[in-house]
Amino acid sequence: VIIASNFKTNHTRESTKEFVQTVSDFVDLQDIKDEVLIFPSAPSLDAFVLPSNVSIGAQNAYPVKSGSFTGEIGSQQLDEFGVKMLLIGHSERRHILKESNALIEQKYNFYKELGYKIVFCIGEPLEVREKGIQEVIDYNLAQLENIDLGYEHLIIAYEPVWAIGTGVSATKQQIEQTHQILRQSIKAPLLYGGSVKVANLKEILSIPNVDGVLVGTASWNVEEFQKMIAIAKEMK
Ligand code: PGA
Repeated sequence: VIIASNFKTNHTRESTKEFVQTVSDFVDLQDIKDEVLIFPSAPSLDAFVLPSNVSIGAQNAYPVKSGSFTGEIGSQQLDEFGVKMLLIGHSERRHILKESNALIEQKYNFYKELGYKIVFCIGEPLEVREKGIQEVIDYNLAQLENIDLGYEHLIIAYEPVWAIGTGVSATKQQIEQTHQILRQSIKAPLLYGGSVKVANLKEILSIPNVDGVLVGTASWNVEEFQKMIAIAKEMK
């Protein structure tokens, strides 16, 4: 099982360090074998000492080693911390930061070439969900159109936009149906994201074709995140 935490614009350098240390100790002490992924904000990245199944990734990076791209970070800055994992295509970057499919593809190809583990996010807005399952699938597959799905370090996160940060996750039936159909095209691990929390994690992880979760809001509190890791361990 893969349990991933997306900090978004939360936590400071100091509290990130504490969070990563607490989670690492927990993973060691509880003998956790599941994969734990943490995406802190860029200023809080560091060369953390981690258990082998815990990884730190960047929430965003520009498809370049270095150069003149004000406000962006390149692979050289990530190399300094040994970061080899990246979140690409998150709905907040697509919709709030207006990232195009073309830029997302460039990022994917650049960081794939460098061997990064990539958590690639897809997901439909509410107006698409309301049109029915076929439209939902078409929309999600279109976001993967020029993405090499055979890449060995690829993880896909299905995150319906209307379920992110709203406190209302997709229903068990919606997740089950969507993941089942997506699975026909996607062999990579398939995560669900969108208002996952301690209270619904067990149910979500028990759905066929859900290989893990990408958690925002409910993961920022380290005790809650540890509870989620513990639930994932029990599920096996
Ligand atoms: P949420 O965010 O858990 O707060 O809904 C999920 C995500 O954006 O990855």
